[in-house]
Amino acid sequence: MTRIRLALGLVAIAALAMGVASPAQAQATGKLKIGLMLPYTGTYAALGNAITNGFKQYIAESGGKLGGREIEYVVVDDESDPAKATENVDKLVKRDHVDVLVGTVHSGVALAMAKVARETNTLMIDPNAGADELTGPLCAPNFFRTSFTNWQPAYAMGEYAGKKHKSAVTLTWKYAAGQQSADGFKEAFEKAGGKVVKELTLPFPNVEFQPFLTEIASIKPEAVYVFFAGGGAAKFVKDYAAAGLKNSIPLYGPGFLTDGTLEAMGDAGQGLVTALHYADGLDNPKDKAFRAGYLKSYQAQPDVYAVQGYDAAQLLGAGLAVVKGDAGRKDDLIKALEAAKIESPRGPFSLSRAHNPVQDFYLRKADGRDNKVVETVVKGLADPARGCKM
Ligand code: BEZ
Repeated sequence: MTRIRLALGLVAIAALAMGVASPAQAQATGKLKIGLMLPYTGTYAALGNAITNGFKQYIAESGGKLGGREIEYVVVDDESDPAKATENVDKLVKRDHVDVLVGTVHSGVALAMAKVARETNTLMIDPNAGADELTGPLCAPNFFRTSFTNWQPAYAMGEYAGKKHKSAVTLTWKYAAGQQSADGFKEAFEKAGGKVVKELTLPFPNVEFQPFLTEIASIKPEAVYVFFAGGGAAKFVKDYAAAGLKNSIPLYGPGFLTDGTLEAMGDAGQGLVTALHYADGLDNPKDKAFRAGYLKSYQAQPDVYAVQGYDAAQLLGAGLAVVKGDAGRKDDLIKALEAAKIESPRGPFSLSRAHNPVQDFYLRKADGRDNKVVETVVKGLADPARGCKM
């Protein structure tokens, strides 16, 4: 046994002397494997596609490499199904041996992904899912986010609505994102003197909204706050208008309600006011260049999801540049990611101690196919990161 080890050691020394790469060096020079776990089917399919487009746009702008290494993708459609999440992420980590996990959209799927990432010490960058826990009690050195917590846009919206209205009803899908979004809205709305008089929920991704619209009409609150995104958001807004509520009870939500969905909503979406960390018409050169590049590559206008995907690649690129592409230098890579300042199309941002963006939130108004920026509603909003011990 000892003789075999000695022989292997000698072979390794000889290989180094001859300039042949050791395993660690090979790791820093071969292709970097990125596991893209996102929804490509179901109500969040458009969100997964936009994130993928944004991510790949940045890689293309960087000559197809990050930290000097070419990129290889292993892509999984997670279907926004938490029940399949552990099996999906296990395949990426244990069968395909990806260097980095990038995903996902749905908070429930992201929680399962992050558990496997934590157990296997795999670097994970979350380009959307807002689950508060991931940068709260479950925060971890190997987990980074380029999007938001569910609390952040909800809190910003609640602050604004609380200055205008005294009562509100919330309606959300019943899973982490919906629940946390309603909680964030309520916290700010009630701090401003309002009262959330009823909290309604329906299972994800159901779109049978009629009974809820009837209940809202009978309660007659001054405002309604909802969390829906993707295909479900378009259906809700159309149903809200068809029920005759649009002109009598102002409808608010985090900007996921109207990002990437305005075309499908038609007239029903026009004039809706939402809060988000991205908007159309931001006056910054980075955004202008990003939008021109996106239009050229995909013949489409980008939305917040494309921005978050682009920034996930930017963040990873910033870290890999410091470790010269050696993703195996985990501690150095994490330090570099923590220190990164991201020139995002949304405006510059840095990461909190819990690895979540500290960023401005914009009030936007739907006009045509744009969510036009009205004003910055909260500047430099950091998630409170309750329970994070880092
Ligand atoms: C979430 O599940 O965290 C989420 C999904 C769509 C848009 C925003 C958040």
